[in-house]
Amino acid sequence: MNFSEEEYLRFRDAKFASAPQSIEELIVEVKDPQNLAQSEMDALLSRIRKSNMAIYRSHVADPDLAKIALQFGLSGLDSNWLAGEDGISRIEVREEGKGYIPYTRKPIKWHTDGYYNPSARKIRSMLLHCVRSSREGGENHLMDHEILYCLLRDLDRHHVQALSMMDAMTIPERTDEAGVARAEETGPVFSFEEGHLHMRYTARTRSISWKEDAATQAAVAAIESLLSSPSPYIFHAKLEPGMGLLCNNVLHDRSAFNDDSRLLYRARYHDRIR
Ligand SMILES: [Fe+2]
Repeated sequence: MNFSEEEYLRFRDAKFASAPQSIEELIVEVKDPQNLAQSEMDALLSRIRKSNMAIYRSHVADPDLAKIALQFGLSGLDSNWLAGEDGISRIEVREEGKGYIPYTRKPIKWHTDGYYNPSARKIRSMLLHCVRSSREGGENHLMDHEILYCLLRDLDRHHVQALSMMDAMTIPERTDEAGVARAEETGPVFSFEEGHLHMRYTARTRSISWKEDAATQAAVAAIESLLSSPSPYIFHAKLEPGMGLLCNNVLHDRSAFNDDSRLLYRARYHDRIR
């Protein structure tokens, strides 16, 4: 843990003092997310600096995500097996994604993206853009992972200590017809790099095993309780066409939806938004 108690208290006070009061405070109207004006860029960056996330609202339904990301210095794309050739994933209902919840109409529990990635391929930022929304559902809850860390640490600092251990969480290997598609991955939930917090988390109960000691189990239960209770720090958003979430991999979930035409583009990066 890199924070002294004094540094932590300063960090926490600043986080809570600058936390947005509503989702609207995180939204910035932009003309074209691929060609941001300086004022639009400044507005997005100031929100990301404070809350690790911002949402743009535009009339550009089908943009080039790489162009948007490049303006924020993001180029280290992480591609997964279902991403397109360019490393950008089309999140839509599809046959080949059967069994993989993002590609179904089902809800997705709280998580950070790429929590199963090895530490050399940490997902530090993410861009999620809506091309077509569902008439109903497909909404997100969002929470700044640094706020969650503070709430958890304020409850009991042993919680964050337990979840900073290198063996706190293990994602079992994933196998397919060809054998091991992804090796088992063990690592911490919380880690600090250059003064920034990184969080790996999923509220899933399948395909994850938590360290079986009392401290880890209590910490995981505390996170579940924080994420399932009403909180002024949990925001609710529905991305409509032309809107996009730009974030330093904050905690999020997704509600179920009922419309197979829903399409979002997603790009995940190894870099943080500076
Ligand atoms: Fe996600």
